[in-house]
Amino acid sequence: MACLSHRPRLTAIHANQGRSAIRFGLSQVQFSRSNHADRIRCRPACRRYFARRSHCRSGSLPADLDPVLVESARAARFTGKAGQSHEGFLSRDGAIVRVALAGAGEPGAKDRPSALERAGAALTAKFLTSGETTLTLDFIGTKLSAADVASVLLGARLRAWRYDIYRTKLADDHKPSLKTLRVAGAPDGSEAAWAVEAALAEGVEFTRELVTEPANVLYPATFVARAKERLAGTGVNVRVLGRDEMAALGMGALLGVAQGSVREPQLLVMEWNGGPAGGKPMAFVGKGVTFDTGGISLKPPAGMEDMKWDMGGAGAVAGAMLALAKRKAKANIVGICGLVENMPDGNAQRPGDVVTTMSGQTVEVINTDAEGRLVLCDAITWTQKEFSPSAVIDLATLTGAMIIALGHEFGGLFANDDDLAAKLLAAGEASGDKLWRQPMGPAYDKLIDSPIADMKNVGPREGGSITAAQFIQRYVEKGTPWAHLDIAGMVWASKPGQTWDKGATGYGVRVLDRFVRDHLEG
Ligand code: BES
Ligand code: MN
Ligand code: ZN
Repeated sequence: MACLSHRPRLTAIHANQGRSAIRFGLSQVQFSRSNHADRIRCRPACRRYFARRSHCRSGSLPADLDPVLVESARAARFTGKAGQSHEGFLSRDGAIVRVALAGAGEPGAKDRPSALERAGAALTAKFLTSGETTLTLDFIGTKLSAADVASVLLGARLRAWRYDIYRTKLADDHKPSLKTLRVAGAPDGSEAAWAVEAALAEGVEFTRELVTEPANVLYPATFVARAKERLAGTGVNVRVLGRDEMAALGMGALLGVAQGSVREPQLLVMEWNGGPAGGKPMAFVGKGVTFDTGGISLKPPAGMEDMKWDMGGAGAVAGAMLALAKRKAKANIVGICGLVENMPDGNAQRPGDVVTTMSGQTVEVINTDAEGRLVLCDAITWTQKEFSPSAVIDLATLTGAMIIALGHEFGGLFANDDDLAAKLLAAGEASGDKLWRQPMGPAYDKLIDSPIADMKNVGPREGGSITAAQFIQRYVEKGTPWAHLDIAGMVWASKPGQTWDKGATGYGVRVLDRFVRDHLEG
């Protein structure tokens, strides 16, 4: 349950001393060291705010809840299921208090962290534009651990993110009012646990921002500028290769895509060395097509505006680097973004053109709309030459076929290494950025052989996501573990989800962060 201060005098559900604030997005999270006065104020209404579902199933909410609230919750069929919420009012010490209950399901549930996130998310979704500016989350008597509290806060913060900078006429009562989350009664260690998750939230929010920005604002150079700005002071070392440098390196495939655009392509390189000195880094490589018209193989107009988010892989890599640096991850990671715009033009590449990649392999460009793989192949070749990484994970909104196969529930995972695949699947499940492994093999690989060059950039319609992965695999050096995440269905949501509103989801940051936490640190 959250206590919302309704009357000014009841905003006093906090301690006046020992409070610290952590800035976030639009708002703040403030922890109050619960003193006796706090407890007394909150207790009658707020104990067991994450009611055990078992309590509720048997028809009764926690015994010490205000009876009026219990009755209204019952009337509204609030049972404490994860993500469920109930709003009510109660009278306390002569004042009317606005309160809410948030359901987090069973304490022992396998998906407990996600259930706790959904509880937090349900509260901010409900009150973001409610007119309330402060929401007090009361954990007294909930028995939640510090990590649990951080999960609730993470869900609350992620669900509250919006990007309204282009909406100049938003009615006042549609504007987010909620600015501050107060936390009462959280156990020791909650603030430290939250500091880690807040770093993750910052990364997810940065990715969402990049994905949301339109392509007239966010193109390769401005993507780089924003990454530099956001990473300044974090300890991430940022480098950029421009068109001339990439030409000198022989990146004919990436440059072929960029050739129809007036925007200069960029290869953005972000290095975070939080691990042992000299250790081989892990490499994350992102497809950053800041707009994909299809090029000469022009896409149909309907829905083409979606292709502003064809840089979602690069966005996830940039967001992950920010999160890792902000939480000072004890690992060496490099993030590489291949940034280009795919446009039709008098100078654009044509179907049938043959380009030479940095690896020396040649490609017949059958379809200029299969541009993501052309960007990734050179970015991956460069990454391997530059860093000899311990493994490569690429993220890309690569194929529409991936959405046909998996819808919007799972990203597709392709890998040349079962161990890496298993770790990513586990990280996906634990983080909520879910993945589902897809097959690969020589029979699929054959489908992209070309009569004129080493390969063509498309296979037949069937198995389109797999042949795209086979294409990329041809650029992975022998002995390098590699995984490819086709996240075409995950970057953008047409309706609100567990911890996101409709729009950019920030998908990818959390699975990468979880993978680093569980397998690269300590
Ligand atoms: N960026 C698209 C893939 C995509 C489509 C992502 C829809 C998200 C939503 C990619 O560059 C593309 O155009 N792929 C083609 C490949 C085809 C030409 C082999 C596709 O999927 O149609
Ligand atoms: Mn395309
Ligand atoms: Zn694309």
